[in-house]
Amino acid sequence: MAEFNLPKNSKVRPGRTWPAPAVVKNPKTFLVYRWSPEGGENPRLDTYTIDRDDCPPMVLDALIKIKNEIDPTLTFRRSCREGVCGSCAMNIDGTNTLACTKYIDEVKGEVRIYPLPHQPVIKDLVPDQTHFFAQYRQIEPWLKADTLAPERERLQSPEDRAKLDGLYECILCACCSTSCPSYWWNSDRYLGPAILLQAYRWLIDSRDEATGERLDQIEDPFRLYRCHTIMNCTRTCPKSLNPAKAIAEIKRMMVARQV
Ligand code: SF4
Ligand code: SF4
Ligand code: FES
Repeated sequence: MAEFNLPKNSKVRPGRTWPAPAVVKNPKTFLVYRWSPEGGENPRLDTYTIDRDDCPPMVLDALIKIKNEIDPTLTFRRSCREGVCGSCAMNIDGTNTLACTKYIDEVKGEVRIYPLPHQPVIKDLVPDQTHFFAQYRQIEPWLKADTLAPERERLQSPEDRAKLDGLYECILCACCSTSCPSYWWNSDRYLGPAILLQAYRWLIDSRDEATGERLDQIEDPFRLYRCHTIMNCTRTCPKSLNPAKAIAEIKRMMVARQV
């Protein structure tokens, strides 16, 4: 049987256990991935204990508390703290999700936190999303229309508008793409569930006039057809969207235009 080993310098080593506050009534322990490009050291898992009774309910609240009160060097992204910016996406308790909408109490025992998988790490919990957003640009995510623009906006019937439900809510957090095994192995060429859901959002928009051009652009064994309907994407989406269904709809459109 083939054996795979991680390169020595990527193995996560036990890290530092930071002192808990002097009085802790309800302790909760967090094991957090730490890595810095400086120094050439292996990644490590640091241990922090906070008083759950003295902390608001979300995992992001705990990270902010740790950064403010225990270890100011801990690095992570966040902005809106209400599930709309997508910047606090990380792997918590084995699942990609948003730290700001994940309740601490949903995790029994220690809370293990890693960056989103299979993306280069800039520092600690901050992944490099340059490639992900370059792929987003590739699908040209804006309305394309050659017909003369009306004096006011391009109108849409309520029925056509409803077709965008389940798509426009995507916050591009990348939780789905970074949970997709096909994307792990082929992200250089496969667009992945998040970007394909976005592509479908424009394909299905009644105001857009570039459907054929958009389908041509993604009709490719790698860009689209690397999806093998494994469904990790749909299971992990913290906004309860269904990227696997959007991908299936694109494949259906590809077939429909052949007949
Ligand atoms: S589909 Fe869901 S998981 Fe994927 S990027 Fe959009 S919001 Fe995030
Ligand atoms: S359904 Fe497709 S996009 Fe979603 S996880 Fe599976 S292979 Fe990836
Ligand atoms: S901080 Fe914006 S989604 Fe979590």
